[in-house]
Amino acid sequence: MSLSIVPKMSDSFSRMGKIALSAALISTSIAVGFGVESNTAHAGDLNIYSYRSPILLEPFLTKYTAKTGTRFNVVHAPQGLVTRLKSEGSATKADLVLTVDVSRVEELADTGLLDRLNSPVINKNVPAHLRDVSDTWTALSLRARIVVASDAVKDGEINRIEDLVDPKWKGRICTRKGSHVYNRALLASLIAHHGEEKAETWAQSLVSNLARKPQGNDRAQAKAIWAGECDVAIMNSYYFGKMKFNNKQPEQQDWAKALTLMFLNQDDRGQHVNISAGGIVKTSDNKEEAMAFLEWLTSDEAQQIYASVNYEYPVNPAVPADNEVASWGQFKVDQLPISTIAKLSPAAQIIIDRTGW
Ligand SMILES: [Fe+2]
Repeated sequence: MSLSIVPKMSDSFSRMGKIALSAALISTSIAVGFGVESNTAHAGDLNIYSYRSPILLEPFLTKYTAKTGTRFNVVHAPQGLVTRLKSEGSATKADLVLTVDVSRVEELADTGLLDRLNSPVINKNVPAHLRDVSDTWTALSLRARIVVASDAVKDGEINRIEDLVDPKWKGRICTRKGSHVYNRALLASLIAHHGEEKAETWAQSLVSNLARKPQGNDRAQAKAIWAGECDVAIMNSYYFGKMKFNNKQPEQQDWAKALTLMFLNQDDRGQHVNISAGGIVKTSDNKEEAMAFLEWLTSDEAQQIYASVNYEYPVNPAVPADNEVASWGQFKVDQLPISTIAKLSPAAQIIIDRTGW
């Protein structure tokens, strides 16, 4: 398999973007063991712009290349790919874009650079609420944004995300910053279900219950529970698996042991989920190949890989969740269209700024 990355940077990158992207390019070349160069591309190769990290993408590409002979060139960056794509416009070499989080995929769709998928295979494999209303992208995996709690929290004390505003949690909740895409999407789902005013009251009350200033990533909140700094935190489900089986940093196994997982809103609308997603670039000269790969990502074979590499849930309802992931608990998913969450993200950000989450 040829997996190279294209180092040429768009001039429109901000300084921050440049730093972040160069770091990502370095980590890509280390993670997959390929040089940073672009002159080995072959006709028929698929060029991917990916927000998804190289380690998580590589198993899919390896499997697909072994199956079909299709080779990949991957540009990975944790941010800035939409800017890059916009500045390249129709001259872009990208065939496919893979993202994590609904806001980023919607930002991408808004550029008008993604093609309509119009795929009976994807329409069959992925439920409608997990696809773009304009059909320019599809979700490829699901992650639940759940509550994790210490032993001090009794069974049944937290059943809904709305329960976190109860004054009994004062000084007992930890979260990362509200402006992170994961929390912004969660708040956008609350706007969709309750309206802006109630969502703002929720955010305000949540902030007043925090044990400390919002800080760190999701795993840092698990660590804070382990350290006794708080009893309740908000976390993406896959981090539990990543900590539980972390042999490189075994202290994270202890953080995982300190947690009870709580899937929320099971007696009403269902658990809020976020997605990883993919779309095809309009100007791709390799659309048939790009579509075949995207369709394969929604198939039984590929959907199982999402669980084994990142403890995520399949979007394809015909594919059962991985045994380990399933052992954390079965849950009902909120059927709110993911597109709606994306549309409400800017309104959520205004509330986040106003409440200081
Ligand atoms: Fe994450």
